[in-house]
Amino acid sequence: FEVTWDAEEAEKGGYDHFMLKEIHEQPRAIRDTLKGRISHAGDKVILDEIKMTTKEIQNIKRIVITACGTAYHAGLVGKYIIEQLVRIPVEVDIASEFRYRDPLIDEETLVVVVSQSGETADTLAALREARRRGARVVAITNVIASSVAREADDIIYTWAGPEISVASTKAYTTQLVAIYLLALYLAQERNTLAAGNIKEILNELKAIYSKAQEVLDGEQPIKDFAEKYCKHEDAFFIGRGLDYAVALEGSLKLKEISYIHAEAYAAGELKHGTLALIVENIPVIALATQQSLFEKMVSNIKEVKARDASVIALAMEGHTEVEKVADQVIYIPKTHQVLAPIITVIPLQLLAYYISVYRGCDVDKPRNLAKSVTVE
Ligand code: G6P
Repeated sequence: FEVTWDAEEAEKGGYDHFMLKEIHEQPRAIRDTLKGRISHAGDKVILDEIKMTTKEIQNIKRIVITACGTAYHAGLVGKYIIEQLVRIPVEVDIASEFRYRDPLIDEETLVVVVSQSGETADTLAALREARRRGARVVAITNVIASSVAREADDIIYTWAGPEISVASTKAYTTQLVAIYLLALYLAQERNTLAAGNIKEILNELKAIYSKAQEVLDGEQPIKDFAEKYCKHEDAFFIGRGLDYAVALEGSLKLKEISYIHAEAYAAGELKHGTLALIVENIPVIALATQQSLFEKMVSNIKEVKARDASVIALAMEGHTEVEKVADQVIYIPKTHQVLAPIITVIPLQLLAYYISVYRGCDVDKPRNLAKSVTVE
């Protein structure tokens, strides 16, 4: 008798790496995170885990989101979303900065802490600092009874399930889902959005997991691009608005697991420095999913093409105009533009994954990095 498998292989469920398995688990994870949190009629967010009264919610003057790494990037999406839907000023801060900079926090500030593990030392310290200064703290975390969950006032759990790969994927998309639910809940309680608008976004949110599946099913062009560009040592990600926040996460994924020097830039900022780095054939990943900024992005793509960059663009279905300026276009299914980050990030995760595989890197356990940083 010979044992031909090991426990780890079995846990990967037929995938070569945990990361790929976790990328593919996203439709399920997104669905689970939404479960029970949208009313039957599809017109209201149900967040019983937020114990604040409507009055307390109406008294919030500022929101500060604090987190590390990928969770911080989810927080950046949160800023755009909450400011747009709830019209409250939102600041996003890296937890290791927040905790040491004598932050301006008081009883009228709502602090949102985002942490997959719920054990990141800096994030936990930021949470404690916020509470010490009288702020109410909402935690978004993936681990039941984690330190962050135990110490926060309110907890929104993400139902991603265990994430093994160091590079975070399904935790990020479910953190986004939790942030959307929180934003819509605040909008509902503060009456900042017409009921019809809330319903419209919730309708799209309910359908987003199947769109995530569509993106996964269309991975071949991303794999091809990865094979073609895996030898490069530099890459740029550009985007505007929500796409800029997603670009930051896309570049982090690539850095973490392929060791390629990758930078994300707000596309409008290119001409203030980065354009100097754009040389022939350099891969530029241009995110152009935001309808209201689409024309601006087309101009930015032209700017990098004029320097002979190789551009792969991500656009929403139907925006074929981008084909005239980019070398290659990956289309993501049509959705409400505020929800685009949930599905836009998936091709970027796949891109980082395949580049890492083609470069022969240790995908699930990148050098020098740990899944959970519980010491400073
Ligand atoms: C580490 C991980 C990242 C993660 C970050 C924050 O750096 O490698 O993937 O985003 O910690 O972790 P948390 O558990 O607080 O979300």
